[in-house]
Amino acid sequence: MTYNHILSKSTDTITLISINRPSKLNALNIETIEELHHALKKANKDKNTKVIIITGSGEKAFVAGADISEFADFNEDEGKNLATSGQELLFDFIENLPTPVIAAINGFALGGGLELAMACHFRVASDNAKMGLPEVSLGVIPGYGGTQRLPQLIGKGRAMELILTAGMIDANQALAYGLVNHVTTQAELLPFCEKIASKITRNSPVAISAAIKAINAHYEDGINGFEVEIEEFGNCFGTDDFAEGTSAFLEKRKADFSGE
Ligand code: COA
Repeated sequence: MTYNHILSKSTDTITLISINRPSKLNALNIETIEELHHALKKANKDKNTKVIIITGSGEKAFVAGADISEFADFNEDEGKNLATSGQELLFDFIENLPTPVIAAINGFALGGGLELAMACHFRVASDNAKMGLPEVSLGVIPGYGGTQRLPQLIGKGRAMELILTAGMIDANQALAYGLVNHVTTQAELLPFCEKIASKITRNSPVAISAAIKAINAHYEDGINGFEVEIEEFGNCFGTDDFAEGTSAFLEKRKADFSGE
């Protein structure tokens, strides 16, 4: 697939995906969502990629939302289809991806942009970042999981206020709310994310995927997270990574995980 709106670059163990529509503040149109789906699927299949980082091109925006010009004349059914396919292709897809995905929020993360960042496994922001879900100011509500993931991350009261006021918070407020884990300068953002990624790459890929699955289970309706944890914990005992990790510890050497 040729990408028109994103860039994907892989180094040894990290794939960096940049949304690349800076003249539109990286707004997410349908084509961009499809390209992101393709690039994420490919990176997840690539044995060398242990961590994926998503960011926005340019210095101004991570993603300033879903592309308003694309859905401005949609009817109810088209609106539902937009949300359904977007959630399936991108937002739920990222949340459940076995490979960890870090959002490097380098500027505005609004609407679908903040929803994209919230679907990632965790977030780091640069100090110029501004975040919010301003959809009600357009007469619509967040449709890419924002009404669900924002309360999970910052609590119901704060999420209500942010969504109902259509307000924006800055990076330090987002840090205080727990919406982002760290704040850096813009220049330090990617090196900082790569540093965290390099800590992840030292660990067992199969155990990491199992941990993502077990943590996500807490937020799934009708699923008992403790039972998923027991199941995933048990499965780890049958993996090469477990044999390698425990042997390496006992032999006082660094583990060399195959990811099997
Ligand atoms: N969808 C489509 N186009 C968008 C967009 C979006 N979500 N966000 C920004 N753009 C476009 C603008 O239309 C403009 O395009 P143009 O130059 O062809 O007119 C370009 O990106 C630059 O944006 P601009 O508004 O001129 O920049 P600014 O610095 O004055 O304001 C924002 C920045 C982020 C405050 C403003 O762009 C904004 O409010 N965007 C929409 C945010 C939003 O409501 N997102 C939720 C969507 S559901």
